Amino acid sequence: MKSLLFSRFLLLLPWVLIVIIVLDIDSSRAPLPARAPRGGGAGSGEPRSAAARPPAQRRPEAALPTIYAITPTYSRPVQKAELTRLANTFRQVARLHWILVEDAAARSELVTRFVAAAGLPCTHLHVPTPRRYKRPGLPRATEQRNAGLAWLRQRHQHLPPPQPGVLFFADDDNTYSLELFQEMRTTRKVSVWPVGLVGGRRYERPVVENGKVVGWYTGWRADRPFAIDMAGFAVSLQVILSHPKAVFKRRGSQPGMQESDFLKQITTVEELEPKANNCTKVLVWHTRTEKVNLANEPKYHLDTVTIEV
Ligand code: UGA
Ligand code: MN
Repeated sequence: MKSLLFSRFLLLLPWVLIVIIVLDIDSSRAPLPARAPRGGGAGSGEPRSAAARPPAQRRPEAALPTIYAITPTYSRPVQKAELTRLANTFRQVARLHWILVEDAAARSELVTRFVAAAGLPCTHLHVPTPRRYKRPGLPRATEQRNAGLAWLRQRHQHLPPPQPGVLFFADDDNTYSLELFQEMRTTRKVSVWPVGLVGGRRYERPVVENGKVVGWYTGWRADRPFAIDMAGFAVSLQVILSHPKAVFKRRGSQPGMQESDFLKQITTVEELEPKANNCTKVLVWHTRTEKVNLANEPKYHLDTVTIEV
């Protein structure tokens, strides 16, 4: 009896092993959750069509609100380096539309070439800051941010129900984590989060109680109605369109007050939506680039070639 059982067992064993091996091969072949490649070829300016993606990717990405990033930028030795860093970040963010606004009387060749090769959807605008406002102690980039806002409103003027979208002011010298874009993507009206390396402290942040902003942790001008840097908030496209007069003002504005002056036109502190784990995570840094040392740059062109830097 015992030997009969044993021979049955030996007979079945190879079949059991075969079934286990086949199941194992099958599960290791299961498709990995594909990371959708995005952006067309260099300078194509439009994201790759949804049809080119695997079916599983189509639906979630189509439903994603577009993030519009308005970046003022001006000509200086580090400009191309800053824009390169920024584009390298933005290229990794799905459904991002870059609104790059040059502080210049005309589009520069450097930025035009850069945009063409950037490999992400980009609108390239320009408006010069009037000379009288180009002084230390005065707010920067007022006209450029307003040009970006005007473009956004114009673009959506004739489209009845606006597509879901989020607007964010992205200065060209800051450092942005990819997680920041996931956070701002769900903005319903106006969302806020901490900013690192700003206001003379390691960070500034909205103070949150029971899911509501109740104050500001800051070491600089705590009397500001919204004590937050430009990099610390995002606004839904709906809010931008339903407040067509909300702009950055030159008249009476002081540095550090631009954010408050703008935000009080469109929202209240009570209404703000805290992001980044109730404003306890720093996902963006107000880094500033050191002025380059060009002490040894020759007065006249000495090199045998001309190189764009
Ligand atoms: C701080 C804030 O973070 C800015 O959002 C705010 O605009 C600025 O103060 C201000 O004083 O108005 P900060 O690092 O001092 O930032 O300013 P920059 O980074 O030098 O300039 C902000 C943005 O404006 C940058 O994207 C920069 O390229 C652009 N900019 C600056 C111009 O377009 N034109 C200029 O003449 C200077
Ligand atoms: Mn800056």
